[in-house]
Amino acid sequence: MKKRIGILTGGGDAPGLNGIIESVVRSLAGADFEVIGIEDGFEGVFESRTVSLTAASVAGVHQRAGTMLGSSNKSSTQGRVEEFQKKFAQLKLEGLIAVGGDGTFQSLSRVIQGLKIIGVPKTIDNDLAGTDVTFGFDTACAVVAESIDALRSTAEAHKRVFVVETMGRTAGWIALGGGLASYADAILIPERPFSRADLLAFLKKKQASGQRGFMLVASEGVAAENEMASIAFKVEGSHQKERYGGFSETLARWIEDETGWESRHMVLGHLQRARHPTTTDRFLTLNMGVEAAKMVREGDWNKAVVYRDGRVTRAPLQDLMKPARLVEPDHRWVKHAQELGIFI
Ligand code: F6P
Repeated sequence: MKKRIGILTGGGDAPGLNGIIESVVRSLAGADFEVIGIEDGFEGVFESRTVSLTAASVAGVHQRAGTMLGSSNKSSTQGRVEEFQKKFAQLKLEGLIAVGGDGTFQSLSRVIQGLKIIGVPKTIDNDLAGTDVTFGFDTACAVVAESIDALRSTAEAHKRVFVVETMGRTAGWIALGGGLASYADAILIPERPFSRADLLAFLKKKQASGQRGFMLVASEGVAAENEMASIAFKVEGSHQKERYGGFSETLARWIEDETGWESRHMVLGHLQRARHPTTTDRFLTLNMGVEAAKMVREGDWNKAVVYRDGRVTRAPLQDLMKPARLVEPDHRWVKHAQELGIFI
């Protein structure tokens, strides 16, 4: 009799989720296992909504962003542990492959007793502990870099400053990675509160030099020294309720007022999660899916598939539940930016 393996995708989507699904299902296809997909993260467990996955039904999904199983960043096991365990038992699974971020793994940590789980870390923000990189991050950086490259043409045509706001919550990885890849003029990240006076002096120097356009990348959670980050609204029921936003608009107005350099802002928003995955993210998810399937075959449960020191490997599941991995203020990428004369 075939062993039944479940797979679910939880939290905000990230390009590469479909790659994990295709890779896991195709690797496990055969005589010993059947794979079922749980729909919409934990909601699918509570509501017993599943779909049978075969090598044929997943073929080709790796190239699409989003997740063919659906996801939810509001469903949680909080206050529903017994209900979860009962519903989960009804699925008659040998084990579960959970692809998610901090909210998903925190939710799982409440119900993990007696379950067999393999965790696969996911977030475009790149801030999960336990892994050197998360899939979706490279694709998000590609969106940022391509957008800055494109916007630079109109900035130069009109002699304007462009403030481009990226996602990332309290982590500046996307702004830093995308800003470096496009050689932006300034990169503002939450881990390095910036001095308004220093930024103005930098802008004025560039203006005086005759530079026509100026590209500034700002992570949504950034703030100037002694100021608070700009929270746009809160989502009740979400693992992290705050949604950051609005900083780029106020910064663009301030820059124009202070320097006279005409300024515009652009919020890249969910476009950073919606692009088809880059080749780097495809390789990463292919490798992670193959490894997760290998762990299933070996019965090596309650571990995570992570990327460390240049390769996909296994780690304790608990490693994914540690506090967020932020950019160290003197990280080597920060130093690269400084060496290039970028304001950071
Ligand atoms: O954590 C991923 C992320 O895309 C953040 O970068 C962003 O702040 C947030 O999710 C947006 O969440 P939502 O999809 O609820 O708007």
